[in-house]
Amino acid sequence: MEILKRWKNKSSSIHATDKINETKKMPVPEHIAIIMDGNGRWAKKRSLPRIAGHHEGMKVVKRITKLASQLGVKTLTVYAFSTENWKRPQTEVEFLMKLPEEFLGTFLPELIEENVKVQMMGEKEALPKHTLNAVEKAITDTRHNTGMILNFALNYGSRAEILHAMKKVLTDVKSGIIDENEVNEELFSNYLMTEGLPDPDLLIRTSGEIRLSNFMLWQLAYTEFWFTEVYWPDFSEDHLLEAISDFQKRSRRYGGV
Ligand code: FPP
Repeated sequence: MEILKRWKNKSSSIHATDKINETKKMPVPEHIAIIMDGNGRWAKKRSLPRIAGHHEGMKVVKRITKLASQLGVKTLTVYAFSTENWKRPQTEVEFLMKLPEEFLGTFLPELIEENVKVQMMGEKEALPKHTLNAVEKAITDTRHNTGMILNFALNYGSRAEILHAMKKVLTDVKSGIIDENEVNEELFSNYLMTEGLPDPDLLIRTSGEIRLSNFMLWQLAYTEFWFTEVYWPDFSEDHLLEAISDFQKRSRRYGGV
């Protein structure tokens, strides 16, 4: 907040680079996870169809991805579609399923230029072919990139993820690939869809909802949470910097003193 206030009080000519450099003076969260909520309410407030909110929300993902990458964030996970979102009207689901194509169709060259690596977590089987193709193309085209990982949670549900991991552990124990005594938190983490990724340091949820909605339940055990009333389509670069600035003031003790 302090940093932001100082920026706001100074002349508006201060370049974004200065804000970025200021933020980078303290440790930036390595992994930020975002529950992008409030697209529908944003649209309703403007008498627009819900899909207009999702479309605007997609543009925000682009801006936030760029800034996160410039800040040196190592992984940015965005909750783009949950396993529960299939319950929405068919037209809305169809629209949401087209967004990855539009996003990656227009933004992939920039992601490649930014050295961003695209990944996805979620049940791939149920996704429409056109959605999966777009995501898999982006994953392939960016697989050698060494910069920030942009991790899409798409058709993702955390309880299903944990159950799936548990079944795989049981199978591997039964077949002797691992010993029951080897099963610990670290091993179990590697059976989750976030295998190889650090747990999020910071979780952001927009739109004033204070819940996890089946998102990364295992991985968020020691994560710092940051909630805002702002609807996702109104979420700006300054909001991200504010969340990080708040995070930088927290004392993380992981159960210690
Ligand atoms: C929740 O808002 C948002 C979603 C279910 C979809 C999130 C998707 C985007 C932001 C688009 C990004 C997509 C890509 C591929 C980059 P809501 O619809 O539940 O809002 P409400 O609670 O106000 O109704």
